Amino acid sequence: MKVAITKATLAAAFSLLTMSFAHPDSLVLTPPMGWNSWNVFHENINENQIKEIADAMVESGLKDAGYVFLNLDDNWMDTKRDAQGNLQNNPKTFPSGMKALADYVHAKGLKFGLYGDRGKRTCHHYNSNWQSESGSNGHEEQDAKKLAEWGVDYWKYDNCDSDPNTQEKDYTAMSKALRNSGRDIVFSICMWEYKEWMPKIANLWRTTFDIGPAWISQSWYRGVYEIIDANNKYWQIAKPGHWNDPDMLEVGNDGLSYEEQRSQMTMWSIMAAPIMISSDIRKMSNETKELYLNKDMIAINQDSLGVQGHRISDVDGKQVWTKPLKNGDIAVALLNNNSSIQTVECNFADIGVEGEVEVRDAWKKKDLGPVSHVSIELPAHGSALLRLILKPVPRAPFKGEALAIPGKIEVEDFDVNGVGQGNTTYNEKDTENHGDSDYRPDTGVDLYKKATGVIVGYNQAGEWLEYTVKVAKTGTYTMNASVASANNTSSFKLSMDGKDITEEISVPQATTGENNYDEYNTVEAKVNLTEGEHILRFTVTGDWMDIDYIKFCENESCEETEEIRMTIPATVRDVSPRLLKKGNAMFIEKNGKRFDLTGHRIK
Ligand code: GLA
Repeated sequence: MKVAITKATLAAAFSLLTMSFAHPDSLVLTPPMGWNSWNVFHENINENQIKEIADAMVESGLKDAGYVFLNLDDNWMDTKRDAQGNLQNNPKTFPSGMKALADYVHAKGLKFGLYGDRGKRTCHHYNSNWQSESGSNGHEEQDAKKLAEWGVDYWKYDNCDSDPNTQEKDYTAMSKALRNSGRDIVFSICMWEYKEWMPKIANLWRTTFDIGPAWISQSWYRGVYEIIDANNKYWQIAKPGHWNDPDMLEVGNDGLSYEEQRSQMTMWSIMAAPIMISSDIRKMSNETKELYLNKDMIAINQDSLGVQGHRISDVDGKQVWTKPLKNGDIAVALLNNNSSIQTVECNFADIGVEGEVEVRDAWKKKDLGPVSHVSIELPAHGSALLRLILKPVPRAPFKGEALAIPGKIEVEDFDVNGVGQGNTTYNEKDTENHGDSDYRPDTGVDLYKKATGVIVGYNQAGEWLEYTVKVAKTGTYTMNASVASANNTSSFKLSMDGKDITEEISVPQATTGENNYDEYNTVEAKVNLTEGEHILRFTVTGDWMDIDYIKFCENESCEETEEIRMTIPATVRDVSPRLLKKGNAMFIEKNGKRFDLTGHRIK
């Protein structure tokens, strides 16, 4: 099922860490940043120029700011394959070959990307009507091996001169080939539209046709705003490792006003879009450099929660966009899509933020807060990029009923900011760990409905849940927890009022099926508890696991028993003994100890 597969792939990413390559899902956990040759140089690329770009990426500080991919787009390759059918570099423009160039780029601490096409010819070779063998159709395995041999880290795969009926098949073939190539290669689909099969096989996919240097295009290409609008539709698809790609930056090239360039940065940041510069950075202006290197802008784009921000209001072209961030802050973009000056406002209460909060303005590089509202005058197509700094909400006093111990604690009944148990909701459709709904703040855990009831799934190391419990009387209790994992490295522990009450408890690995997170096992531990109200905390200490309930029993065992009437032997008669039946066996229980029917202690 979907939950298990996704989780399994993440779990696999962990186990593969010991090997020399990572799982494809974990290759670009934040949107890739770098440089691409197409929008600035088009087909006119060559070895020296690319080396100079590599030098400039390092010297300008772009590399240190996170722009690490140096990607060659179309026309690095020869029109002819070699005698064995291998792709090869254009010998005139790249005389030293791709391996040497990749080595140069790697030596600078950068990553090296190339471009190819799923059809017979790449777009430039096809559009130029050249006789060419530059497309990878039918050569997927061979080409992926070659890329790995050269040291390629990123492969953009275009859509020209191809069969419209074999899109999924062709892109899947290349995805598999890259995954079999023995090298970590980011897979970037360029098919000019999103299809639902893409996230399964690729790290990023172009959501639109080519971008060009205009806000609204009067030409064959798409304008920046048209692309923003189109890319927004898919905001719920993006997640760590898998990104919508609204194409390269036009920042630093002619065509857009300075405000429009800044707005492209603002919107690429809030949309968690890959940021691929495509200008001649060997001679960039200070203004352009400032746009690329703005730390607040980059931090919002690269936030590890990996949620793509989206538009929440548009009143006569005055737009508000929001993006939740990992530490609980919220990024807000204000965009004026009009061709005249407008004041764009945002009442924080409208985006669920009560009271006054600190606000950091990324472009003005200053703090505006504490405020509960902003009202900013923006020029035509101008924007503001803000971070609302939300202090962690202190744990409000618990108002509900404490959960009784002895008793069974359904794991979903955790305290939610003092609202109390039983008020938690779960999302039946939530099959992925997005941490964006129905989760205990600071934990990132997700609730799922499964055959066994509601469980808390996707728990990973460091995540925790708290319960307000009331222990009836001081003593030793038997704790049972119902847990599931496909790994043999999952574990958890319990603490009370900040002190551990168990050691790390291992979660048994499922014995049936592959990547099975539905096989529940009971694990047991003895715990010493003191009478009264306490905060019980369940903390995950190992790999992914699911949990259904935690049970505390006064007896040696939590097994279900049935009380029956019978004469009690004198040896155990005095202090409220109980006669119990489990299956066909009968025994007496007194003070938590068990005796057979003749009064002898059972171990
Ligand atoms: C297509 C792509 C562009 C670029 C060119 C190269 O148009 O969408 O991004 O790669 O091909 O020919």
